[in-house]
Amino acid sequence: MSKSSPLSDPDIISDPYPVYAALAEREPVHWCEGLNAWAVMKYADCADGLKDPRLKAERMEEILDVKFPGHSLPPDSIYHRFTKNVMMYTDPPRHDALRRSTRAGFTRAAHEHYSHVIERVAQELVAAIPRGAKEIDAVSALAAKLPVSAAVHAFGVPEEDLDFVIPRVDALMTYWSGPQAQPVALDRLIEHLEDLHVYSLELLQGKRGRVLPETVIARLAADQQSHADCTPEQTVHQIVLLLTALFAPTTPGSLSSGMLSFATNQDQIDRFLADRACVDNTANEVVRYNASNQFTWRAAATAIDMGGVRIEKGQSVALFLGAANRDPHVFERPDAFDLDRRNSGRHLSFGAGPHSCLGRQIAGLELKWFFVALFARFPGIHLAGEPTWNSNLEFRSLRSLPLVLG
Ligand code: HEM
Repeated sequence: MSKSSPLSDPDIISDPYPVYAALAEREPVHWCEGLNAWAVMKYADCADGLKDPRLKAERMEEILDVKFPGHSLPPDSIYHRFTKNVMMYTDPPRHDALRRSTRAGFTRAAHEHYSHVIERVAQELVAAIPRGAKEIDAVSALAAKLPVSAAVHAFGVPEEDLDFVIPRVDALMTYWSGPQAQPVALDRLIEHLEDLHVYSLELLQGKRGRVLPETVIARLAADQQSHADCTPEQTVHQIVLLLTALFAPTTPGSLSSGMLSFATNQDQIDRFLADRACVDNTANEVVRYNASNQFTWRAAATAIDMGGVRIEKGQSVALFLGAANRDPHVFERPDAFDLDRRNSGRHLSFGAGPHSCLGRQIAGLELKWFFVALFARFPGIHLAGEPTWNSNLEFRSLRSLPLVLG
């Protein structure tokens, strides 16, 4: 792996923002050898790039070559069948039909139900911290647990299947650990992807554990016959994508980085407790301040000019959402964590345009209800020691966060 780009230096993971700011100034579209891609640093370029049809979401052949150079997979490999048939890696019109096929799980009424469920599980989680506990690792005790509880109670993943699903998703997510490393071999990744397909089919057929009623999966299972433009195989692919997104490090990463932001900015806990508008802005400011998916990928469908460079057809582009969120042209005092910020909602942490995160409302509900429950019981959290970060810039998340509960 080349060290010529500062983005490839693992030492920047705990605080990549000074490096982003220097690159944005000097080389806003920067060739990163470790990623074998153009790294895009400015808000305007990232926001445009997410919506520009010349930058294809259908990118996974190019990404395979970036992640595992020289490896190829046969056309009928599950890798290609999956990536060519899920909303995340396809372009319109196929993308739109695939996304529409999951609509039943993401209606307004469904989200109202999920909100009540998530409020309850967040309260139960915080209430489960033993009375008298003084110090905790907030990643393992809280941030890692809430998304799992939400996965069972709001999404409908059967509790008895968690031990099967989570390790497979954890391994699959290592595919996205650029530019630092590729810790799991491609063969193993393919096996896990196969396993999750078999599992998701059985889940839809009712052959696995109990799916709770009114959950995302219950709604999708009930609706599966009604999509003429989506095959049964494609329905299974969308479930695999949802499972992956559900257990990805994104939501735990945002919950834990949010706790870190509050623990090191205690005045913001006071603002949270004093002003309802600050509560409503918390999810946005938490994910603006630290994007748990620091960058996302596209492939150039044609040669394009961006930020003073020419991106050739077929080259990969990494849109640095985490850098865009700290762009001083959009966010005043971008390095301040500030719940009174008026435009936190312009962050790009959930993407934008056609691929804007399908789970963003649910992730927002998890963040909101979690901090409501946490500060109702522990309004004085502060750091008990140095936090540590996982060595992954792409999906950036804390490994440990020692907190005094106060
Ligand atoms: C804090 C938590 C989360 C973050 C930061 C996040 C981030 C993102 C981002 C950046 C994208 C756009 C990727 C791109 O344009 O290339 C995306 C798409 C997506 N996310 Fe999330 N996500 C989160 C939680 C979730 C959850 C809980 C789900 C489960 C439903 C989910 C499901 C999806 C799906 C299905 C897409 C693809 C949408 C499409 O292509 O039309 N996400 N997410």
